[in-house]
Amino acid sequence: MCGIVGYVGHRGALPVLINGLKHLEYRGYDSAGVLTLHNSVFEGEKKVGKIALLEQAFQHWQPAGTLGIGHTRWATHGPPSHANAHPHLSADESVAIVHNGILENYLELRHELAQAGVELRSETDSEMIAHFLQWEREAGHDLIAALQRLVPRFEGSWGLLAVARDEPHRIVAARKDSPMIVGLGENETFLASDVPAILEYTRRVIYLEEGDIVDANPSDVRILDREGREVERSVHEIQWSLEKAQKGGEPHFMRKEIKEQPQVLADTIHAYLRFDDTGVGRINFPDLTLADATLQSFDRVVIAACGTAWHAGLVAKYLIEEFARLPVECQLASELRYAEPIITPNTLVIAVTQSGETEDTKKALIRMRELGATAVCVCNVLGSSIPRECEGVIYTVAGPEIAVASTKAYTTQVAVLTLFAIHLGRVRGTLEEERASALLRELDELPAVVRETLGCDAQVEEVAKYCSFAPNFMYLGRHVHFPTALEGALKLKEITYIHAEGYPAGEMKHGPIALVDNTFPVVAMLTKGRVLSKVMSNLKEIEARNGIIIAVKTKGLEVNGAVQYTIEIPETSEALSPIVAAIPMQLLAYHVSVNRQIDPDKPRNLAKSVTVE
Ligand code: F6R
Repeated sequence: MCGIVGYVGHRGALPVLINGLKHLEYRGYDSAGVLTLHNSVFEGEKKVGKIALLEQAFQHWQPAGTLGIGHTRWATHGPPSHANAHPHLSADESVAIVHNGILENYLELRHELAQAGVELRSETDSEMIAHFLQWEREAGHDLIAALQRLVPRFEGSWGLLAVARDEPHRIVAARKDSPMIVGLGENETFLASDVPAILEYTRRVIYLEEGDIVDANPSDVRILDREGREVERSVHEIQWSLEKAQKGGEPHFMRKEIKEQPQVLADTIHAYLRFDDTGVGRINFPDLTLADATLQSFDRVVIAACGTAWHAGLVAKYLIEEFARLPVECQLASELRYAEPIITPNTLVIAVTQSGETEDTKKALIRMRELGATAVCVCNVLGSSIPRECEGVIYTVAGPEIAVASTKAYTTQVAVLTLFAIHLGRVRGTLEEERASALLRELDELPAVVRETLGCDAQVEEVAKYCSFAPNFMYLGRHVHFPTALEGALKLKEITYIHAEGYPAGEMKHGPIALVDNTFPVVAMLTKGRVLSKVMSNLKEIEARNGIIIAVKTKGLEVNGAVQYTIEIPETSEALSPIVAAIPMQLLAYHVSVNRQIDPDKPRNLAKSVTVE
């Protein structure tokens, strides 16, 4: 989605803004713009397309000034165009703003401006903010007072920055349902929609709360809450480096993130799992804050998530039902938010989200809470919105995920949900201790197993050579690998633009098998578990229709003649096999994408964090 950077300090603002926007490129955008203030004049540029184009525009002249704001836009109101790109100026050009989010009452606001004879230069909802700020300032209020007076008139979401021509050392900001952070430097202040934008300059960061308004100058930052009271917000020291958010020598972020999985799985699992002196695995979720008695009181679980996170939730459904003997519904958040689910005080809702900002997931969760459920979440981003709406949170420790297609966030989500299912089973007395202990010992070893799994890369690369130009793919799995099949198909669709479907293997004969012919690659999950022989039989049906079968199979497993290509992965228990089987899914999509000369990090039409409905 959109990215925001603001700077006020002692350096030239332009390079800070351009660098910052580059570090936010991963969020997806279609146009970009920056503006600085120098000698009471705003100077800047906007471009449709990549930030590189914006940079080119500054090859022969560079606006001076030590204050500025910048923006990458992902179109919502009005197509990508020069006029619609941010920053936007007020009619008299005294105020400039950048805005992420949507003003839901924009028609009403637009009408008010039209009646006063203001001609809008863009089709955006955002531009109106600049005009209203101008009016407030004309009424005698300085920029911060103007913003404070204006914000209550907005409905919707905003992360916004504003600057004024005659207030050369001030940037003001507001946040609601759109992320915004403040970075504290030595005599300089940064504002941004995400940490990577400013990490080159400072590690000291304040995560703003919903409704906060900020008044920033180089040496001071004042934060006002939604009631207008001045408040203190804690300063966090960012532990991860920008280097970590960069490609680390790999050609693409996606490949780097796939390869990071042994490490981030170790970080995530060992954040919550310790072995005591007697060798018994103990699980502790410090931010979950649900007492055992509360966990015992639940009679139903509803999981809410979107896309890849929903697939992680589907894996959890199988595990929670088996280990904790609780009925689990795994719902797409965009559907759940408008449904009439049966929610009681004994319902536990679990939102699963990498970014913590997905609008549908957030709204579904808020609604479930209003209906009386206890809500917790699995999230990767500290300080993001969704954990704030929850009674408890389990963080995945995946570090920043830059590639649009989620990889390490998925496997770490499945890992913490597996730990949670075991914990719930233990607390409820439905999982035998021997089994729980065996699973925990296996989880402890899982990072090493995933490292070994990455060894299948060469096999996957070979397979990709044969199938990169197939028009369609089918992914088949059963039981815990039905979600693996869905995830494999989603990865392929996202970054190769090949049509792919994930299906439960046993369902093929009820319709989709009509699609199969000798141009049709079928990726099948064949790992040891209760449904292995069943999937093998299902593959016979594909073989009989001349489909091309690519088997992702446990090492050493004998498969019959049906299979053309094999990709081998290490043996695990059935419960942990979705994490291991996800790796070849990610690698296959990655290699096919590269073979088709697509940039896997920035697939068309997609954004990293979907903060609109
Ligand atoms: C796919 C992908 C998306 C996200 C979905 C939810 O690779 O990344 O499907 O999983 O948009 O995002 P989060 O997890 O941030 O809520």
